Amino acid sequence: MEKQDLTPFLVAGASGLVGRALVGRMLADEGGPGVVAVVRRPLGIGDARLTEVVTDFGQVASARVPPVGTAFCALGTTMAKARSEAAFRAVDLDAVAAFAGLARRAGAKRFLLVSALGADPRSRVFYNRVKGEAEEAVKGAGFEGLAVLRPSLLLGDRQESRPAETVAVVASSLFSWAMAGPLARWKPVPAESVAAAMLAVAGGVLEGVRIVENDEIHRLAA
Ligand SMILES: NC(=O)c1ccc[n+]([C@@H]2O[C@H](COP(=O)([O-])OP(=O)(O)OC[C@H]3O[C@@H](n4cnc5c(N)ncnc54)[C@H](OP(=O)(O)O)[C@@H]3O)[C@@H](O)[C@H]2O)c1
Repeated sequence: MEKQDLTPFLVAGASGLVGRALVGRMLADEGGPGVVAVVRRPLGIGDARLTEVVTDFGQVASARVPPVGTAFCALGTTMAKARSEAAFRAVDLDAVAAFAGLARRAGAKRFLLVSALGADPRSRVFYNRVKGEAEEAVKGAGFEGLAVLRPSLLLGDRQESRPAETVAVVASSLFSWAMAGPLARWKPVPAESVAAAMLAVAGGVLEGVRIVENDEIHRLAA
């Protein structure tokens, strides 16, 4: 049997919906690698296998982190929170790219990015374009293996209210019959499933660039 690499995982976005699910699963695997989380503020999780590196993400490229194995990025904001296109790009593109640079310097050979369904650097839709640009930026960072997950609408318990997402969740639940068929590509996905799919991909061979679309996330997590 191949020996498991126990070099710690590196995670950004650990306080978010996907990131919390991801770190929870990593720490629940007692025989697995520890976790180094790059955060803006402490997570409040007491676990000896978790190391937190608290930093301002404007300075993330120069944060000091120990050597790591695989890196996971679930960073992101919303236009409602960011309030301007520039502020949105600063998180969903610049902070993601800076985190990828940090991961490379800390020795990560593999990187898993939570992007979004429809990501495309040539899109006329601002959100999709920035997500696509972030994918391109991470591709350019030179990892041996890169997985880009493109989930549809995320499901899970949020502390904040996001009215547009709530409306979309209700609408898609009304059309759940169609989501099983031709609309499977858009079927909302639990954040837990995204985390499970990331770990499933990280647990296998990851070389070159692998795009994991929404329907595959559902399958990997099932
Ligand atoms: N919401 C959806 O339906 C949906 C659908 C498809 C794809 N996605 C994408 O999936 C990814 C994960 O989404 P999510 O819902 O889990 O995200 P989330 O709950 O909003 O969490 C976002 C994470 O990014 C961090 N972050 C936000 N602004 C930051 C800033 N200025 N500096 C540093 N860190 C910052 C947050 O840290 P703090 O806790 O410190 O703010 C948090 O850890 C994102 O890239 C998102 O765009 C979301």
